[in-house]
Amino acid sequence: MKPINVGLLGLGTVGGGTLTVLRRNREEITRRAGREIQVKIAAVRSLEKAKKHAGADLTITTDLYQVVDNPDIDIVVELIGGTDPAKDLVLRAIANGKHVVTANKALLALHGNEIFAAAQAKGVMVAFEAAVAGGIPIIKALREGLTANRIEWIAGIINGTSNFILSEMRDTGAAFDGVLKEAQALGYAEADPTFDIEGIDAAHKLTIMAAIGFGIPMQFSKAYTEGIGKLTREDIRYAEQLGYRIKLLGITKRTEKGIELRVHPTLIPARRLIANVEGVMNAILVKGDAVGATMYYGAGAGAEPTASAVVADLVDVTRMHTADPEHRVPHLAFQPDALSDAPILPISEVRTAYYLRLRAYDKPGVLADVTRILADLGISIGAMIQKEPSEGEEQVDIIMLTHVTVEKYIDQAISRIEALPVISGKVTRIRLEELNRN
Ligand code: HSE
Repeated sequence: MKPINVGLLGLGTVGGGTLTVLRRNREEITRRAGREIQVKIAAVRSLEKAKKHAGADLTITTDLYQVVDNPDIDIVVELIGGTDPAKDLVLRAIANGKHVVTANKALLALHGNEIFAAAQAKGVMVAFEAAVAGGIPIIKALREGLTANRIEWIAGIINGTSNFILSEMRDTGAAFDGVLKEAQALGYAEADPTFDIEGIDAAHKLTIMAAIGFGIPMQFSKAYTEGIGKLTREDIRYAEQLGYRIKLLGITKRTEKGIELRVHPTLIPARRLIANVEGVMNAILVKGDAVGATMYYGAGAGAEPTASAVVADLVDVTRMHTADPEHRVPHLAFQPDALSDAPILPISEVRTAYYLRLRAYDKPGVLADVTRILADLGISIGAMIQKEPSEGEEQVDIIMLTHVTVEKYIDQAISRIEALPVISGKVTRIRLEELNRN
């Protein structure tokens, strides 16, 4: 059978890795796909940099539209990232009847609904395994492997750069900036590293997982996003003393009132497997009603791990492209006319537990005032430590872990606590999840 022809948009870290993997494993991949997958054309920014990938059958161009408008190309692989011009290129490839494989989480989280509708109308596939957690086959697992389950919640370490920074801060006490530079040098950070640090990259990936986990449209604009920029070494240390690690988690949960969709630093029990995921590695816990909790671990970025996901999609598309579109796996796991309109809950309605750190004057009655405020709002305290004041200091750190409550009550408690004359400065609040079987 004649090869299926692929055009690459972008030949950087992931594009280069894709070519390498396809070339190295050509024979195995052909045996799996049923026909050869051949990259015929790649559009790049710099011809000079792309020289190293030259091959007999590969045309290299700087014109992105030469790929999407090429009548010989069956599958377009979009690896340029960002939304502009990626959105236009992907929609144009679809309009031209081409299947699309993309690693672009921002594009799907922001414009996925439009892109999938266009693909549906045209009867082509848009595959996106590489968009979430690099080489971990989490899309396949959520969309197919767990299809019997009612998914209850998903919680993941889905930004390697942030996890690397948190791991280094805990292990070495290293400063934030130096660790970030290291992640950038390793090729893990986004073009704009604020996307990593501020939780935006994780929220893109979480939006996609929530959509296929619960059968809802992509709703990135409703995700709550808080990054790791304000975390201090003290909080990391106090959390350790209480038996917890702090991780940047993406959490999405089905509740009676709607769906929680949130990214924020989170205390998790140190004894959980996921708490021990270090460095740039990613891990995702998925709780299904039938299977229970399952965990997926691996490299969330990097050339060949991400290429592993891109090539898996290429093989899927190659196997499925002659199938009747009605009989393919739906883009969002659920049939497009069967998506749910369950609302995304605002952060004030989210239910979770909390770590609170306050600085108080070491005087009688301080704790009584604070605990009274919490009790009045129905918030129960699970654990507490008060540090000895340092030599010559009048103030002490008090750390409390609360039981689960609704965020709006913690907001009220914090403003009342901050208003107490015996409290100095702001209260630090970090959400806490037990990630047990419930
Ligand atoms: N910047 C991302 C990370 C790369 O650090 O995980 C993969 O999406």
